This record gives sequence, structure tokens and C-alpha cells, in this order.
Amino acid sequence: MKAVILAGGFGTRLRPLSCTRPKLLFPIGNKPLLDWTLENLAKSKIDEVILAVNYMAEAFVHRYGNTAHGMKLHYSRETMPLGTGGPIKKAEDLIGHDEPFLVLNGDIFTTINYAEVVKKHKQNDATATIMLYQVEDPTRYGTVELTKNHQVIKFVEKPQKGKAPSNLINAGVYVIEPEIFALIPSNKRVSIEREVFPKLAAKKRLYAYSFEGLWIDIGKHEDYLHANRLLLSTERRKLAKTKGTSREKDVEIDAPVAIGKDVKIEEKSKIGPYAAIGDNVAVGKGVHVENSIIFPNAIISDFTSIKGAIIGEGAIIGKWVKIEDNCVVGDYTMIKDNVTLTQGVTVCPSKEVTESVLSPKCVM
Ligand code: GTP
Repeated sequence: MKAVILAGGFGTRLRPLSCTRPKLLFPIGNKPLLDWTLENLAKSKIDEVILAVNYMAEAFVHRYGNTAHGMKLHYSRETMPLGTGGPIKKAEDLIGHDEPFLVLNGDIFTTINYAEVVKKHKQNDATATIMLYQVEDPTRYGTVELTKNHQVIKFVEKPQKGKAPSNLINAGVYVIEPEIFALIPSNKRVSIEREVFPKLAAKKRLYAYSFEGLWIDIGKHEDYLHANRLLLSTERRKLAKTKGTSREKDVEIDAPVAIGKDVKIEEKSKIGPYAAIGDNVAVGKGVHVENSIIFPNAIISDFTSIKGAIIGEGAIIGKWVKIEDNCVVGDYTMIKDNVTLTQGVTVCPSKEVTESVLSPKCVM
């Protein structure tokens, strides 16, 4: 069976980190989100994956080439963004007309069993089956109204508080029959959720099922940090092993954490809980990193504190620096000694920050 992964979005809500890498290559627990997805697809006996790419397409080709976890990888390249429906039509020849196929939004982390999803789809005579996930607040998402036998009656996108037909949201995982190709125009930006699924629902050709397990989209910085926390807690054992890490005495590691290869941590530093430290990161003395993601090759100097923040690749953080909740520091940024970045400050890539920033703003 084949799976299409929608991987071409610009990830504007994750800027500035998405200015230098596509969203699907953001590490979660030190491993790109797409690696987790490919591993899960391979477990579900998928043989071929089509990556629908556009923004920074070469980054995918460079990392994965033509195979991953025993599956064949194809790239369907867009010359303009085609949304969530257009890429399916664009990949028609690669997908073929022989059997149903999976479509995934690439920016979600989930433990869903894809083989089960396909089984559910085969229970009905449907053009498409969508997977639903129960959330507390559905107002940011697309919700659905269902009959008792799981047929979708209608979609309600981003419902107002109290007006959602249910707390079940579209999880961005679909099984689709090739007859869908006739409903999507070629070379046009099309939203599958807004333009195609409502038509199928009206024709009683759309079914939906909810699933349990983990699901989170990494669309915004707080979601991304949340996904990292979730993964660190669930994959605690696997992530504890590290290669080449050197730790001085009195270093406190407060699990769950993920520590990459060749990380150096000097004395009296405390890492965790919920910290992911990428490969080759150097952590000085008396540093505290908690609930944060540090991309590879960053340097964090003595007595600095980073809590609830994301630090980009190769960033150099000086001594006695304080970086607070929801701060995002772009790649190769330099933060000078004694600087405080208060909650919600964003620093663009390669900037030098010499003075404290004490109100939430973007340093450009
Ligand atoms: P924002 O700009 O922050 O909204 O992010 P995004 O561009 O990724 O959009 P969104 O979160 O709505 O995308 C959902 C999924 O569809 C993600 O996996 C995107 O990579 C993918 N996607 C969005 N637009 C396109 C597109 O034009 N082409 C392809 N191939 N995939 C897309």
C-alpha cells in the first residue's frame, strides 16, 4: 500500500526556525518529526511513500534519498503551493488507480496504527475515511457531525466556543479511493478539507472514526514544545541512551530528557525535566535547561538559565543569560553575556543581541 505525506507547507507559524528548515524536519526528542512518521508507517506494512514537497524540497531529498525503513520513497514536487488537496491530484501517476491509499498531514506526531485505519476504511463503501481525535477545545480545528454508523453529515471548520457539533477533530489522516482524482482539479491550490470532503459528505461517501493514543500537531511553538514533552514522557527509556556524551561531576539529569551525541555538560548544571539537547551541544557550568528544545551545535555558556524556550542550531548563548517561556532564538544567533529575554521574545536567525529584551517582541 502507498502513503502520501503532505510535506510542502511553509510553516509560517513556526518562523523563524522554519525559515531554515521545513516543519517536518523539526526534531522531537532529537529526531525529526518525519522520522517518527516513517517508522510508524513501516510498522503498518506500507511499501511506498510519496512525499508531496514544495518549500525546501531539497532538504528532504538530502536527508532521506530514495528509501527509508525498507520503504521506497518518491518525491512529488510542486512548482507552486497546491494546498492539501492539489498535491494528491499532482501525485496521481505515482499513486495509481489500483487500490486505496493513505494521506497524512506531515506536521502531526501520532502513535496511530495505520493498518487499523485501513481496516476501518474497508468496512464501508466510502470514497474516503477520515480519522478523528478527541480534544478538549475543538475551536482551532475542523470538527465533524456524524451519524451513528460513522457517516459524516457535515464539517464545521473552527467552530465558535460551544457551537462545535462534537469534540472530535479532523486528525489529518485519511484513507482515500482513487475515484477522488476526478474531484480535484489539476495544477490548482485545493483544500481537501474545505473543498473536497464537504462534497463527499453531501453524497454520503465520507466516513469517520475516532482513535485513541497520542496525537498532536506541531503548527505553533507551544504545540511544538508540547509535542516534545509528550514524546519525552512516552519514549523515556529509548531516549535515555546517548553516545559520546561527557558529563562533569555534579551534573543533575532530571528525566525525562533526550541528550544527543557528543554533548558536553560541565559541572553543577541541571538538565531537565523535559529538555531535548541536540547533537554536539556544549553546556557550560551551572546552567539550567528545563522544558526546552536546544537544536544541534548550540553553545550555552556558564550560569545561563533556559526555561520553556527553543534555541536554534548553532546559536551561541553567553554567560548569565536568562531566556524565559515561549522565547524562540533563531539559528546562529548570538546572545551576549547578562542578557535577559523575557517571555515571548523571538530572535531572527544570525542576529546579535547585546541588551535585554523585556517585552514580548521579534528582534529582527
Ligand atoms: P502554516 O504556514 O504555519 O499554517 O503551516 P503550513 O504551511 O504547514 O500549513 P498547514 O499547517 O495548514 O499544513 C498542514 C499540512 O499540509 C502540513 O503537513 C504541510 O506541510 C502540508 N501543506 C500545506 N500546504 C501545502 C502545499 O501547498 N503543498 C504540500 N505538498 N503540502 C502542504
